[in-house]
Amino acid sequence: MLEIFDLELIGKPAILGFSVTILAVLLVVLYGSYNVFLHPLRHYPGPLIWRAFRLRYVISIHRGDFHLRLKEFHDKYGLVVRVAPNELSYADGAAWKDIYGNRPGHPLLQKNPTTFQKMNPNDPKSIMSPDEDAHSRMRKAFANAFSEKSLKDQSPLIEGHIQGFMSQLKSRSGKPIDLVEWLNFLTFDISGDLSFGESFDCVKNGKAHTWVEIANGFGRGLAIIATVNLYPPLNKTLHYLLPKKLMQRQMDHREISAAKAEKRLAMDTDRPDFVTPVKKFNEKRAGIQPNEWSLNMGIIVFAGSETTATGLAAIVRELLQNPGVLARLTSEIRERFEEERHITIATTGNHPYLDAVINEGLRIAPPAVVGVPRIAPPGGVTICGRHVPKGTYVAVNQFPANRLERNFRYPNSFIPERFLDNNPKTDNLTAFQPFGIGRHSCIGMKLAFAEMRLVLSRLLYSFNIVLADPKDRWDWGTQPSSMFWVKKPLRVVLRKSGRT
Ligand SMILES: *[C@@H]1O[C@H](CO)[C@@H](O)[C@H](O)[C@H]1NC(C)=O
Ligand SMILES: *[C@@H]1O[C@H](CO)[C@@H](O)[C@H](O)[C@H]1NC(C)=O
Repeated sequence: MLEIFDLELIGKPAILGFSVTILAVLLVVLYGSYNVFLHPLRHYPGPLIWRAFRLRYVISIHRGDFHLRLKEFHDKYGLVVRVAPNELSYADGAAWKDIYGNRPGHPLLQKNPTTFQKMNPNDPKSIMSPDEDAHSRMRKAFANAFSEKSLKDQSPLIEGHIQGFMSQLKSRSGKPIDLVEWLNFLTFDISGDLSFGESFDCVKNGKAHTWVEIANGFGRGLAIIATVNLYPPLNKTLHYLLPKKLMQRQMDHREISAAKAEKRLAMDTDRPDFVTPVKKFNEKRAGIQPNEWSLNMGIIVFAGSETTATGLAAIVRELLQNPGVLARLTSEIRERFEEERHITIATTGNHPYLDAVINEGLRIAPPAVVGVPRIAPPGGVTICGRHVPKGTYVAVNQFPANRLERNFRYPNSFIPERFLDNNPKTDNLTAFQPFGIGRHSCIGMKLAFAEMRLVLSRLLYSFNIVLADPKDRWDWGTQPSSMFWVKKPLRVVLRKSGRT
């Protein structure tokens, strides 16, 4: 009886289960071995487990330490690292133009569609879309909204927002505040006003608007979707398992955007914002289609605010942690201006040390932490002088590139001087492209610079700023990232400088 029980009821399924397990393990080992020993990318260096399986990469993205691992790998393996069976990470300045530039006689490298999936198959295309034709049409339509001339027209609107921001901060001087939060309020108010025809009023209310609150979770959402899409066809099922709340919030967000975009489009006005130039463009050529407005405006609001707020927060933190730089910049700003009201976009435009400080901040803390991946075209492509087979994912990853000793001497130190009198032997600026290059580079670069110069000049003119806790000092790069930086608070005390 006991014998029968054993063999018939437990024995066979156990043996079967055991065999299935063995088989599965065998397949996984075979797959990993193939990737390590036979795969066309086998000659590229990288950590073993990452070369063998994509899983380690995905885990790292979800942990938020991806940028730190990449830095570790580039420090160890050099300018190019294989970080997944089919993905190469570059920290070589030459890779910028090979991957993102337009090289005559070379096919374009398309955006990796796994990162830029539509949420819904019937969603309209956006300016972030991997579809090059749609992208190029939209980019042309938006180009005028971000020109030098438009920036000049938009300046009073932007300066008005800074004015409100400064009054709020002045009324809170002497008490600790979180500058990360306030910079976020400001940059979202500005790009909201330029895109939707009205401010989110975050600064006025001292509180994030629902749209802004949801947008702050975007990086996490994008990271989840991007990694889920790495596993087709499983991604179809996995999509249903995504947190309901996350999906609902995305839907809410879309609805608010749609309502806001519609409201702005219905306004009969020539107000100097992003919409007026595009409307003018649309009169002559196929620009932005009616169903494409709201998604694009949402993207532009987000892309313009999150990144600028990050840049500013990082720069202020570095200044507070590097008193010598802070002292020099502060005295230069206070010498340049007699009165606070003279500080405008136009008057902050020509200040080399300020620009050096901004660039150094963007180097230490690139708002686009890691690269937007591209795909090697059919027939493969040459990157940094080496053949890369078709279908390989390739990216320049800014954080490890900017923190590589080989590209920048004392890479983890905040030294704006390296941008003033550049010595190409110690600081190789070809590696430094905070706004990207090529047809998908950041369209809002001039505006971002204008905002950063204005905010920094106003802050340092009017306030002596100190860390609320003098011991609250750390390297920006130790924060987690999830597509973007998951920013920790920047608690400071602002004391009025007496200059008005
Ligand atoms: C800077 O980097 C580029 C790209 O890798 C390289 O071609 C150039 O020689 C480097 N410059 C110096 C001075 O090392
Ligand atoms: C799954 O990912 C692939 C690309 O990796 C994509 O083509 C497909 O549309 C995705 N499916 C869903 C439901 O998003």
